[in-house]
Amino acid sequence: MLVFGLRYVVFLELFLQTAEKHFMVGHRVTYYIFTDRPADVPSVPLAEGRQLVVLEVRNYARWQDVSMHRMEMISNFSRQRFLHEVDYLVCVDVDMKFSDHVGVEILSPLFGTLHPGFYRAARQDFTYERRPQSQAYIPRDEGDFYYAGGFFGGLVVEVLQLTTACHQAMVVDRANGIEAVWHDESHLNRYLLYHKPTKVLSPEYLWDERMLQRPPFLRKLCYVAVPKNHAEIRN
Ligand code: GAL
Ligand code: MN
Repeated sequence: MLVFGLRYVVFLELFLQTAEKHFMVGHRVTYYIFTDRPADVPSVPLAEGRQLVVLEVRNYARWQDVSMHRMEMISNFSRQRFLHEVDYLVCVDVDMKFSDHVGVEILSPLFGTLHPGFYRAARQDFTYERRPQSQAYIPRDEGDFYYAGGFFGGLVVEVLQLTTACHQAMVVDRANGIEAVWHDESHLNRYLLYHKPTKVLSPEYLWDERMLQRPPFLRKLCYVAVPKNHAEIRN
């Protein structure tokens, strides 16, 4: 499992504690923590067969760049080490906590998660990138789902292909002076439209109660946002 702790180390303790309780319990898990502050990674007791690996990466001034460069970091580390160390990657935002069981039911060669804000929306209302100048462009009459940037994964080789493609698309966008509306999430959506995932997870795997309350038909909220002050934490 991969976690992004860049400047978000304050969230790590609760993330790890709740992951130990709910995430892949009984299985071998490596937490790869990307951070620019390795010294601030909290030490949380881990069950047998589970380990934590801190990967030091550089910081970026803009949160949009931090978010987008995750694709490049996953791509590079996948080639260098993940391919040789693990079977599956689960890539998640860290400003979250587990609140119910997340197990091997999520695993598949390539999986994405329905964004909690759009699982009931019509395709033309998805917040895809709509400018044809961007590599993330999706026309109004295309698109299956709106996927969340904060929970995707699959076999390492699949995630390597996805992240490499998204990173390259962002390099092209930058050269053309354009930045996709939702950054790496826009590129993820474009990639998953033309490389269909083999599994699509419900928004119970990525929910935000402060934004969306807790609808009674969602029985198991597994991974939920931890309230934060966006302005304070992002900058
Ligand atoms: C918001 C979310 C953003 C982005 C956006 C897409 O709810 O906070 O990160 O995913 O939806 O429209
Ligand atoms: Mn988040």
